[in-house]
Amino acid sequence: MRPEDNQTLTQVGPGTPMGGMMRRYWVPAALSSELPDADCSPIRVRLLGEDLVAFRDSERRLGLVEEFCAHRRASLYFGRNEEGGLRCSYHGWKYDVGGQCVDLPQQPSYAPKIAIRSYPCVEAGDVVWAYMGPPELRPDPPSVEWATIPAEGRYVSKWLQYSNYLQGIEGAIDSSHVSFLHRYEIEQNPLLKKTAATEFIKGDANPEFDIDHTSGGLIVYAKRRDRNGRAYYRITQMLMPWFSFPPPFGHHPLLCQAWVPCDDESCMVWSISYCTDRALTAEERAAMADGGGINVTYVPGTFIPIQNRSNNYLLDRAAQKAKKTFSGVVGLVAADVAIQESMGAIVDRSLEHLVHTDKAVAETRRMMLEAARNHAKGRTTPPGVSSESQRIRPGSLILPVEEDVREFLRKGQLRVGDQAVLSV
Ligand code: FES
Ligand SMILES: [Fe+2]
Repeated sequence: MRPEDNQTLTQVGPGTPMGGMMRRYWVPAALSSELPDADCSPIRVRLLGEDLVAFRDSERRLGLVEEFCAHRRASLYFGRNEEGGLRCSYHGWKYDVGGQCVDLPQQPSYAPKIAIRSYPCVEAGDVVWAYMGPPELRPDPPSVEWATIPAEGRYVSKWLQYSNYLQGIEGAIDSSHVSFLHRYEIEQNPLLKKTAATEFIKGDANPEFDIDHTSGGLIVYAKRRDRNGRAYYRITQMLMPWFSFPPPFGHHPLLCQAWVPCDDESCMVWSISYCTDRALTAEERAAMADGGGINVTYVPGTFIPIQNRSNNYLLDRAAQKAKKTFSGVVGLVAADVAIQESMGAIVDRSLEHLVHTDKAVAETRRMMLEAARNHAKGRTTPPGVSSESQRIRPGSLILPVEEDVREFLRKGQLRVGDQAVLSV
């Protein structure tokens, strides 16, 4: 990859091609639970290289405004959230959810002329989403399936990762690493175990990849074989610009992840487990809260995983030798984070050597680059903005090795990931 392409792919600040394109989508900004009540404490939110503060006013309206006061730039994180707005603690200037100054004690007539940057928000799926693009191009609210189902079927978590967003997405669509990095742990994880995945993932570490384009991204088929003439397909969906829907494991909940850039060198990883046809059980929720599935446990009071770069992710060499974990980093997510952060904040893609199992990675980069450049040229609506393109599911299935998976799906008129049929 040319260094300039790598830059275009990874830079997300205001005025960059990728940053401009990403501002055309609803951006996951905060958990609804971080802003539980009217006049609750404001929170800091860093998105696409911008420092922001989110709050809920006295009428429960959401505000997402630039962090720094228009007067002399004190942080509004230290502000007072009361009586319909956020008041700067330094000299008392007060802003409403739209960023308009509504009280300026020293010179009241000046207030109407003062406003700070603000972004509209919506709530869906226990998440506060922000729109940071041109107001006239604001899309319909998010339509990813997990954001539209009843709350009983959904569990949402997030953590801070110290890498560029793209390293995360690349990990998510690269089904081949599962046969190595996660080889021993899939069968132990309470939210993934006892499914067909285990034997196939261990049995065939050299999957064949195929790709289809969708209106919002890519479908990636990873085909593994066994000795009995069967093929196991893990079908991942990548939805622009940051979502991955990993293939399901049997009866366990469906999964979705999103790597949302805080800036070029860090991202918030959103992790959603959901069932479309039932409530999550108390056991499932407890396992998720305990870091099971694709969740983590936290350094108290933060969204930083307990296993993090400052402690080498609690690397356990004895467990690695004993084949309890491939990398020595215990836990599915912790291993992914360790590897993705180990490449450096922004991996130098000009130094890589790709092979056939990197097909989906290469195609994702090509698609993202093309979309960002097209958007920069003519503000064309990028893939994945429309509601229709977001209504997707992943899948996993077993077929006779000679059967064509696309033909099978077409014949049965199955949407990829029809959960009853396509999750083994
Ligand atoms: S810096 Fe905010 S009121 Fe003075
Ligand atoms: Fe992984």
